[in-house]
Amino acid sequence: MTSWTEPPLIVAGSSHRVLARAVAEALHVPCRHVIAETYADGEQQVSLEESVRNERVFLLQTTSVPVERNLFELLLMGDACRRAGAREVIALVPYLAYARQDRRARGRESVGARVVADLMEAAHVDRVVAIDVHTAALEGFFSIPLEHLSAFPLLLGALGDWPRERGVVVAPDLGAAKLAQRFARALDVPMAVVQKTRISDTSVETSGVTGDVRDRVPLIVDDMISTGGTIEAAAQALLARGCARSITVLATHGLFVGNALERFSRLPITRVVVTDSVPGHGEAPLRIERASVTTLLAQAVSALALGQSLEPMISHQ
Ligand code: R5P
Repeated sequence: MTSWTEPPLIVAGSSHRVLARAVAEALHVPCRHVIAETYADGEQQVSLEESVRNERVFLLQTTSVPVERNLFELLLMGDACRRAGAREVIALVPYLAYARQDRRARGRESVGARVVADLMEAAHVDRVVAIDVHTAALEGFFSIPLEHLSAFPLLLGALGDWPRERGVVVAPDLGAAKLAQRFARALDVPMAVVQKTRISDTSVETSGVTGDVRDRVPLIVDDMISTGGTIEAAAQALLARGCARSITVLATHGLFVGNALERFSRLPITRVVVTDSVPGHGEAPLRIERASVTTLLAQAVSALALGQSLEPMISHQ
């Protein structure tokens, strides 16, 4: 057990208290909560239960659905800490929303990731710790440090006895190709890439698959699953090219928005492996395996609290 000179102070927002408690337990420190209120007109306010004066505070808040509420609550938490005299405010954001909005795909669009970066700084956050952010380039949007942790070793371990001798790792789009390459190398199996075009928020089209998937057992890897459209289209493209009817899907962030899981249940998807970077849903039409990011976050908190390097946990995509 670590003997702290200054134990890390974990403060949970309302988005993922189970994870915050688990991280605090792993570090053998208490977990405090913010009191989060929503007024009748929809405005939010947060307050801290106990003093944070002169403390280094770790705020744990994931920014999954409802995104605006969770994100704004985090901003208010940062503000409350600074006004209460905290020495340093570190935001632990297992899933960082808006990361996909990193550029203008068309003219006259907003770039949400940049706005979020600016808001964090405006809310007096000194450092952000996130896991498998959609693009590593996001670091350049922040002038405060963005620590980009990798769940790769965790997910690789969670795969267990996946049949690698007949396997193929599949990137469901070009953006996931590097990740797929990393898994393919670690598992020593070939890889394939699906050519995807996004039509709308919920629907995508595929125009081909690069690589041989015939009779092979696919492992589709991605950073996140939102509506499930990307995975559904990739699975259909693989099936059309004669892959084995036993598909494993693996991603860091399992948002499963809308009918994502129903979409999967209509396909021969036999395993879905994600982390607990966002809270789980109750009933689901298929079983989801969740590898916990508790230890990863606890190690990051411990390193920051002890002034040690985060390098072994960092993702260099
Ligand atoms: C996109 O580039 C991401 O890596 C994911 O593939 C995408 O965001 C998943 O979204 P959905 O599940 O809605 O297709």
